[in-house]
Amino acid sequence: MFERPRGTNDWGPGDMAKRRFVESRFVQRAESFGFREVSTPTFESLDLFTAKSGPAIVRELYAFKDQGGRDLALRPEFTASILRFYVSSLRGLPKPLKVYSTGNAFRYEEPQKGRYREFHQLNAEIIGGAPLPSDAEALALAIGTMRAIGLKQVKARIGNIGILRSCLPFSPADQAVLLHALDKRNLEMLDAELARLAHKDLSAPLAKVIQLSGDVAILKDAEKVLGGAGKEGFRYLRDLASLLDLYGISRSDYAFDMGVVRGLDYYTGMVFEIDSPNLGAEKQVGGGGAYNLAEVFRGEPVAQTGFALGLDRLVMAAEAEGTIEPPRPLDAYVVPIGDAARTKAVQILTSLRDAGLGADIDLIGRGPSKNLDYANAIGARFAVLLGERELKAGRATVREMSTGVQREVALDDLADTIRDV
Ligand code: HAM
Repeated sequence: MFERPRGTNDWGPGDMAKRRFVESRFVQRAESFGFREVSTPTFESLDLFTAKSGPAIVRELYAFKDQGGRDLALRPEFTASILRFYVSSLRGLPKPLKVYSTGNAFRYEEPQKGRYREFHQLNAEIIGGAPLPSDAEALALAIGTMRAIGLKQVKARIGNIGILRSCLPFSPADQAVLLHALDKRNLEMLDAELARLAHKDLSAPLAKVIQLSGDVAILKDAEKVLGGAGKEGFRYLRDLASLLDLYGISRSDYAFDMGVVRGLDYYTGMVFEIDSPNLGAEKQVGGGGAYNLAEVFRGEPVAQTGFALGLDRLVMAAEAEGTIEPPRPLDAYVVPIGDAARTKAVQILTSLRDAGLGADIDLIGRGPSKNLDYANAIGARFAVLLGERELKAGRATVREMSTGVQREVALDDLADTIRDV
């Protein structure tokens, strides 16, 4: 027997129906916001992912050489691919460019519940808008998607990595190490690194500021802790709160949290994460923010913001809150009775399908009672029983599976009868 690779999943019909439900809510919302779909390759040149993050990122990637000796990697996310695509081919499109993608991503992580090596993301990016309205639009789509899925218990945490960066006057590499320590809340590492950089004085205020979380009032507290540093960044967050009010996003849907640092290196300004309290350790269902990759990929400077939601975790959150709507059941299951009825039955089946109904037929040659059991088991709304006598009269027996009520209808009226009930 073969086993699937560690950290991957098989999804059966029931799982896929749930996943499609959640994904379709995102797609509908994104389209309603004016985002359009794009698609990029599942694997890319390894350089694309090391360009910003350095070679250390390779540990977290599925990186490999192909038969031509090229260094490639399975995508760990969409943002780098989309910015590569933008810089190479999409720069001429009208701005702002609003694009979304859905699909699988791969990270070499220690698998656990909600954390896989192959997982799915729902991703959106806005390129070339003014920063504040674009950030608000991205947040509104992320939070709006949660609402469209019916989730109530999720909460966004919004920070500004630009403020933290402005407190860290060091090389990009040193900044990355310090931000990593802040992200992991590793105060020992923070202390040690700041000591190495002869800036131990920054340790206490940074450790304190990342603990601050709450409504807009905490922005003043944070500003005080940082002794006036990051003034612009705090004003930006206050303006963002006013803009989110206009979108109808309740202030209880999010908190400001100066400790949102994000695990990826490219963020420059507003950053956010969204949590579902029902998911235990891997409770983060999404994250994003303002970033800069266009210049890293040799494009002109342009504002970029976006987010990704983890489909696997969103489905778990939706299951926990009981918001998933069941898929539309099959409309009709056609049961030919006797061999002579079979030919006509296939024609009737096809006409029901052509009329836009979901219709299926016995493929095994079971007797009528076994066929009705099957129709029941697959959740068909109606069974269409076709005996020779009825067919000769141009009629069929339609049985409503939920009640067992049967009636004869003319074949010409069959599709309408099934549709109308
Ligand atoms: P990220 O926070 O790394 O951001 O991933 C976004 C979401 O993907 C996470 O919140 C989580 O729900 C899901 N996710 C990540 N890793 C796994 C995993 N191993 N198993 C299951 N789910 C996972 C990004 O990827 C950025 N590209 C988001 C972005 C877009 N920023 C700007 N634009």
